[in-house]
Amino acid sequence: MSEKILIIGSTGSVGFEVATKLLHLKLPIKIAVRNPERAKTINLIDAEFVYFEYNKPETFKSAFEDVTKLLVVSPPSYIGIQDNVVNVINSAIENGVKLIVNVSAISAESELDKPIKKIEDHIINSGVDYVILRPNCYMQNFKDLFRDFISQENIITVPANDAKTSFVDIRDVADVSVKALTNDSLKNKVYKLTGKQLLNMHVVAHMFSEGLNREINYQNISKEQFEKTLKSAGWPLSTITGTVQLCSHVKSGGTAVVSNDVENILGREPIKFEQFIRDYAEIWS
Ligand SMILES: NC(=O)c1ccc[n+]([C@@H]2O[C@H](COP(=O)([O-])OP(=O)(O)OC[C@H]3O[C@@H](n4cnc5c(N)ncnc54)[C@H](OP(=O)(O)O)[C@@H]3O)[C@@H](O)[C@H]2O)c1
Repeated sequence: MSEKILIIGSTGSVGFEVATKLLHLKLPIKIAVRNPERAKTINLIDAEFVYFEYNKPETFKSAFEDVTKLLVVSPPSYIGIQDNVVNVINSAIENGVKLIVNVSAISAESELDKPIKKIEDHIINSGVDYVILRPNCYMQNFKDLFRDFISQENIITVPANDAKTSFVDIRDVADVSVKALTNDSLKNKVYKLTGKQLLNMHVVAHMFSEGLNREINYQNISKEQFEKTLKSAGWPLSTITGTVQLCSHVKSGGTAVVSNDVENILGREPIKFEQFIRDYAEIWS
């Protein structure tokens, strides 16, 4: 029997990076996708694709065929399918999966994110080998979510007051995920994935100004104004809900923690915010 790694969430930001890295390492992977059209647009041509949806148990068995390791990126709490994810975990174990790596979120530590914690707890209590990864806010939010505000209006506008966050680069989260899938020493523990720099939004805006050679300002706004701004910018409701939830967590101080886990696992410092801006600078030009 071949021993493949199944990636659930591979059209998403973290899952895609992990799948790409595993393909480079020539490891046998299967990519679970619910939308074959969307799958065609992602650049993972050497991978084996399998149709999968959390809410369609009939898709589970073929997804787990020949699979012994699973990477599951927890879906955001607001989409309300955590019970389905629990069923997916049960099915994975029934079908022979021996290790589950769960990309969760640092918010699992707070009351705000009980659904994500429920997935973690279910995996831990199931008896399967696991690695739980709790990343802090992604640096890539500034590239994927806030790109237009920065590139068109030179502004970062979020309801975060002066709260600090140790942003983590998704590329580091992916490197840690690959290690978790391929190295037994990480097994059966929970890790916090953060950067080393505790930054508030004034400092972030200053770093963007330096990195892009033009002035980028931070505008602290109310949650209500923020929702209105995102609506008029045409964001989908689900993205607005998730982003507002994330900002509430930042504002409450829940993201102001620094962990050494990335450095300890990778044997190098986490990517710095200045480096992230340099690497993607043309996106905001
Ligand atoms: N943004 C942050 O700063 C941050 C930081 C830490 C943790 N997180 C956590 O990261 C998670 C989101 O990760 P991400 O940014 O990689 O997500 P993402 O880019 O939104 O991707 C979500 C993935 O899940 C798939 N998916 C959604 N519903 C599905 C369903 N019913 N059946 C099968 N697949 C489904 C999507 O497939 P489609 O392509 O078909 O939609 C996509 O591949 C959340 O749990 C969030 O709490 C976020």
